[in-house]
Amino acid sequence: MINKSKICYILTSLLAVLAAVGIIYSFKFISIGIQGHQIDKFVKHAGYYQLNQIESQSEDGSFTAILSWVKGKKEKELNSSPVVKDLRVTFKVDANDECQFKITDLSNSRFHLPENEPYPFTKQRFSKKQQEFNLFETEISQVGQKFYFELRRKSTKEIIFSTKNFPIYFTDKYIEVTTQMKDSMIFGLGDRRTDFLLKSGKYSLWTRDAADIDNGTPGKEIYGFHPMYLRRDIVNNQFQVTLFRNYYGMQVDYEQNSHLTYKVIGGNIDFKFFISDSNPENSIKLYHNYINGWILHPFWSSGFHQCRWGYKNSDMLMDVWNNYNKYEIPFDSLWTDIDYMYKYQDFTIDFERFNITQMQQIYNLSDPNGVHWSSIVDVGIALDSDAAEKGLEMNVFIQSAKTNQSLIGKVWPGKTYFPDFNHPNSTEFWYDGLKNLSSYGISQDGIWIDMNEFSNFVPGELVPSESLVEKIKSFFAIDQPALPFNPLGIYFSNQNSIFKIQLNNQINMFQLIYEGLQRIDHKTLSLDSKHYSGYDQGILYNSSNGYIPTQYDFHNLNGFGEGIATYKAAQKLGKKLTFILSRSTAVGSGRYVQHWNGDGYSTWEYMKLSIPSIMNFNMYGIPFNGDDICGLMGDATAEVCARWQQLGSLYPFSRNHNNNDAPSQEPYVFKDHPYVLSSTIKTLNVRYQLLKFYYHLFVKANGLGTIFRPLFWSFSNDDNAYTYETQFMVGDYLMAAPVVQPGNAIKQSTHSCVYIPKGESFYNFYDYTEYKEGEHCYEVPFDSVLPLYIKSGKIVHIQDKQKVLRSRFLDNTFTLMIVLDENNYSSGSMLTIDDYNRDENIISNCIQNYNCVIDLFAQGKLNENNLFQVELRIQQEKQNTTYQIILIDKLIVIGAKANGKSYQKTINLNTNPWIIDRNDLQFNFSFQI
Ligand SMILES: *[C@@H]1O[C@H](CO)[C@@H](O)[C@H](O)[C@H]1NC(C)=O
Ligand SMILES: *[C@@H]1O[C@H](CO)[C@@H](O)[C@H](O)[C@H]1NC(C)=O
Ligand SMILES: *[C@@H]1O[C@H](CO)[C@@H](O)[C@H](O)[C@H]1NC(C)=O
Ligand SMILES: *[C@@H]1O[C@H](CO)[C@@H](O)[C@H](O)[C@H]1NC(C)=O
Ligand SMILES: *[C@@H]1O[C@H](CO)[C@@H](O)[C@H](O)[C@H]1NC(C)=O
Ligand SMILES: *[C@@H]1O[C@H](CO)[C@@H](O)[C@H](O)[C@H]1NC(C)=O
Repeated sequence: MINKSKICYILTSLLAVLAAVGIIYSFKFISIGIQGHQIDKFVKHAGYYQLNQIESQSEDGSFTAILSWVKGKKEKELNSSPVVKDLRVTFKVDANDECQFKITDLSNSRFHLPENEPYPFTKQRFSKKQQEFNLFETEISQVGQKFYFELRRKSTKEIIFSTKNFPIYFTDKYIEVTTQMKDSMIFGLGDRRTDFLLKSGKYSLWTRDAADIDNGTPGKEIYGFHPMYLRRDIVNNQFQVTLFRNYYGMQVDYEQNSHLTYKVIGGNIDFKFFISDSNPENSIKLYHNYINGWILHPFWSSGFHQCRWGYKNSDMLMDVWNNYNKYEIPFDSLWTDIDYMYKYQDFTIDFERFNITQMQQIYNLSDPNGVHWSSIVDVGIALDSDAAEKGLEMNVFIQSAKTNQSLIGKVWPGKTYFPDFNHPNSTEFWYDGLKNLSSYGISQDGIWIDMNEFSNFVPGELVPSESLVEKIKSFFAIDQPALPFNPLGIYFSNQNSIFKIQLNNQINMFQLIYEGLQRIDHKTLSLDSKHYSGYDQGILYNSSNGYIPTQYDFHNLNGFGEGIATYKAAQKLGKKLTFILSRSTAVGSGRYVQHWNGDGYSTWEYMKLSIPSIMNFNMYGIPFNGDDICGLMGDATAEVCARWQQLGSLYPFSRNHNNNDAPSQEPYVFKDHPYVLSSTIKTLNVRYQLLKFYYHLFVKANGLGTIFRPLFWSFSNDDNAYTYETQFMVGDYLMAAPVVQPGNAIKQSTHSCVYIPKGESFYNFYDYTEYKEGEHCYEVPFDSVLPLYIKSGKIVHIQDKQKVLRSRFLDNTFTLMIVLDENNYSSGSMLTIDDYNRDENIISNCIQNYNCVIDLFAQGKLNENNLFQVELRIQQEKQNTTYQIILIDKLIVIGAKANGKSYQKTINLNTNPWIIDRNDLQFNFSFQI
């Protein structure tokens, strides 16, 4: 609904000030042009840094050096951003496979984030502190010459990083550094919806509330901040990870097979390199160790979830719950979006619409049908709420530089303040709020922190007493903050209209939208707004020299800070393993939160791009991740929804989520297309069969590495594997080939293919058919499960259960699928705990001492009497393994090779299950072929 009085206001304002707007607009247009132009002019005639002196050198290859600026003859000053004349270069060998290259201001300390928790920091794990053991070597320019730095892999001489022949600019608010990028493919660089293999383009890194697809034009980044990439040297098939350890807004210009340039608005030049081998997982594990690893989610959260914005009251929740129960769709959590709140105010429940008795019924985990409550908490605190009163008392909100009062923006409840998660009181403030939500006899088991970029429906802020000109400027989003460089890109459209007036539905107001220009504070807070600056008490940053950190410094850390506060609150509220779903994340967030891909549309394209996004977040160290199944915005067709349910059934985090104004998309609503419901049930049953297996991969990884991976992760030397971006691996065991394109409506089926890497063999998960190397195509009916394959040589444990509709009812009895390789060998692992539902059980037996993992090894052979014998050995991975009892009651042997043929056999042990209760067990069995 459009607010009529606002339209009036707009129209009168528009008429009254049209001329003024024109003047201001064209003025700003010019000044923005000049800002961009200034950089170009500066760069054109700029000087360079000369290597002045090697300060120190040590045995392990580390060194420091001093650089000084040699001014260009016709150099044009950057008014707002003077050149930093004297710099210190630090190259530090942190381990034989890990090093850091830094350039900092020699004379002044600049705002930068410390090298300790919660930020990434180097863990001491040096083995041989001598240069000869390093996997890398460096080269720098001669003293007195123009400075460059090159890092190479010692064994192959491939260039990992080199500034040779590229300029370096280090000014106060604009830094530019370029590395060569030949014979390489790269993956990563931010939170963006795009293909997994990064194409040439200009990529912004600046957290934004947007649902864009990024095709390499600036200003298309979405919620998170992850300036790392995984690079493959194509010639030598070697992998390494590079992190740019700088949290400021930036644009990265990438030219495939040429170079990569960082253009940054602050901080230092600070690169961290992780150098491993032909297995990308090894480099990623080094990276995860540096960013403090990732946290394990509670088991129940790996079940299926149903959510939508638009469950307006508890009757509607009851209805969804009843339908899930009636149709026997497995699920573990029913979510509430902002609907449940009183006037969209955080930490409240609208008891008028949400009958707490009904809620207590749905969220009663003693009831066999009960599910977990997960609910949203937005970061903006409504002005007239109890929480706001408390927050003002505690002084916890971000301060406006324009009013010297708490900054006011606008989000769902209307005017809001925003907590400053650097403020020493913010942790307690946030805890108090969440405690209030947990005080109604329902436990908020999943905490969903949204809009935390921070998202704001007005650019910058609302200034209450602003002048008419100020009002016009903010109303029409004209006032571009002065930046020497806008990381969201300044580009002008070649269309005729340069700006248009558009209705902003979120605030029921018309706004002026520029074509081709995005304010950096568009949909977020004023960059000059202030954070807490007291010494020694800052949660995120201690200001030792009186420096007042601003949004300019902290913007990309907003969601990160909120994640930490939420994690601490959840722990204090008694949660052992926490499930916190955060939209905005930054480097190191995985230590505190989980993530989903954010808002998208119910289209094939968004469905397809969900796969590389989840792979990216596995690299970024937040492996428990998923996309809104059936798509958030727009009308999900039956076919899209069915295929998305199938694909999403093996997302690490699996949730159907819908928007307020979109038609319902719960699996049972497609009455004219019953295949949506039937395929959803089938495919979710497979998820629940694999639920403990999937979870065991997370436990075994122990906070480091990836789970949901691209195909090439396991087959890095097969060049074809890089081109199949929609197939994905779960660990090194399973491969899915989801259908992500429309099929034939008459046949109710889609022609689809799977690629099997060179020299490999996979077996269909459902009928055990063998698929050998190459592409195989077949028909996949709309009414089907996710096409899924097991890798040869792997043992997968499943639970062959009927009608287990909640994860907590999965027992401790397993079926082993033993897929033998060409040598009749196979291996896998399992957990030795019998209860996954008690977090304490997992924490004390699996995490702290990491001693609940056992390895399984199977070796088969044919003896004289055509009897195929299999010996299965079980060994604990570490010492001090706990043995709670687990049972094996069924064996499915696949790919047993004998007499040049391949056999399969199912053996039921029902009456005499194997009991795994101690180390060094061995089981033998045989079957006639
Ligand atoms: C706690 O919840 C109640 C009920 O929704 C609400 O009225 C109150 O404002 C909340 N208190 C805070 C501090 O948010
Ligand atoms: C809330 O729900 C319970 C259980 O369905 C019902 O008995 C009660 O009357 C409801 N309360 C209100 C105020 O509607
Ligand atoms: C929860 O379910 C159990 C078992 O059905 C029942 O005894 C108990 O009364 C329920 N509690 C609530 C608050 O509904
Ligand atoms: C924290 O909150 C208390 C009130 O609860 C207030 O007295 C104190 O000044 C606040 N601390 C800071 C650093 O603002
Ligand atoms: C805000 O505080 C600053 C620094 O104390 C001062 O210079 C400025 O005038 C103040 N602005 C307003 C609107 O009070
Ligand atoms: C096993 O437990 C003992 C005694 O608690 C302890 O000293 C030892 O370090 C543990 N070993 C491992 C590998 O955790």
